[in-house]
Amino acid sequence: MYFDPESFNRDWDETFLLADIGILLEQFKRWQRELPRVHPFYAVKANALHPIISTLAALGCGYDSASKNEISLVLKCGVSPDDIIYAHPCKFASHITYARNNDVRMMTFDNEEELKKVKKLFPEARLVLRIETDDSEARTHFKGKFGASVSEGKKLIELAKFENMEIIGISFHVGSGCPSVNSFRKAIEDSKTLFDFARDVGFRFSLLDIGGGFPGTEEHETISPFEKVVIIIKNMTSRHRLKPTSVIRKALDEHFPAGSGVRIIAEPGRYLPGPAIELVTNIFAKTTTKDRVCYGVGESVYNSLTPVLMEGFHFHPQLLEVSPAVYGDEHPFILP
Ligand SMILES: Cc1ncc(COP(=O)(O)O)c(C=O)c1O
Repeated sequence: MYFDPESFNRDWDETFLLADIGILLEQFKRWQRELPRVHPFYAVKANALHPIISTLAALGCGYDSASKNEISLVLKCGVSPDDIIYAHPCKFASHITYARNNDVRMMTFDNEEELKKVKKLFPEARLVLRIETDDSEARTHFKGKFGASVSEGKKLIELAKFENMEIIGISFHVGSGCPSVNSFRKAIEDSKTLFDFARDVGFRFSLLDIGGGFPGTEEHETISPFEKVVIIIKNMTSRHRLKPTSVIRKALDEHFPAGSGVRIIAEPGRYLPGPAIELVTNIFAKTTTKDRVCYGVGESVYNSLTPVLMEGFHFHPQLLEVSPAVYGDEHPFILP
């Protein structure tokens, strides 16, 4: 167990995170077992604790950084700029310049304005075109905000050729906490359509980025949804008399076979540290109304409990210690 000394207070008054690096390692190994052809670029936004970033760096992970700050954090951990993708389709001008000054060349875009902005500020950038996906089953949706449709993508590829900008491949994100493998399958098919179109326009795409969306352990399930996805896929594939292998692997092997010269990466965020991290906070108040008991806790939905507000997430708290000075032997807390 790792205690972040910055946020650890001996009075137990403050909230802090406990990270079990062993679980992080297991998640990484599980990834390699299930998706051996896909190189993970950890999405730093999921958790930017130094031990998480540096452990993943030691394991050979790449990084998805979405801002100047996230790029700088990762660079400070000694990560090579070639192992970073600046994966935000709409970027601050100053952050693009920062990326240029630090040789972070890979970056996503999904619209004409961004293409022209990057051309002005970083003409040697290696662009990755982000396309939209069906993210209707995910916990957090990006459709309508990020990602070009296939027909918009074709226009952007032509425009990039005209503007003499380099596009190296396609990226997508099926939405955070995505239980549907069909979204991955369709997005991989759409990517292949654009790879073929780009070849006809004169590009040689070499990168496919299948984004994030892989769930971590949640709601105290005994097997992680990541494995469930694989189990569901196995059931589904056997029903269809196909090999018992994952839809993602199958779609990749079909459209981007090993030996095709296409490097496949992904941007897993919550999948990697999610099951490895516990939030430790204190209960400082209790109120009882007609129909429920409410506890006041030392963490907010505007901080690490944001998923409660944004995604209707349910946490399952566990009581660790009760202050004898305040409550004696009989305390008033009954947690579900
Ligand atoms: C571009 C991008 N990549 C990766 C991620 C990580 O997603 P997840 O935590 O669902 O794997 C996100 C999350 O918002 C994202 O926006």
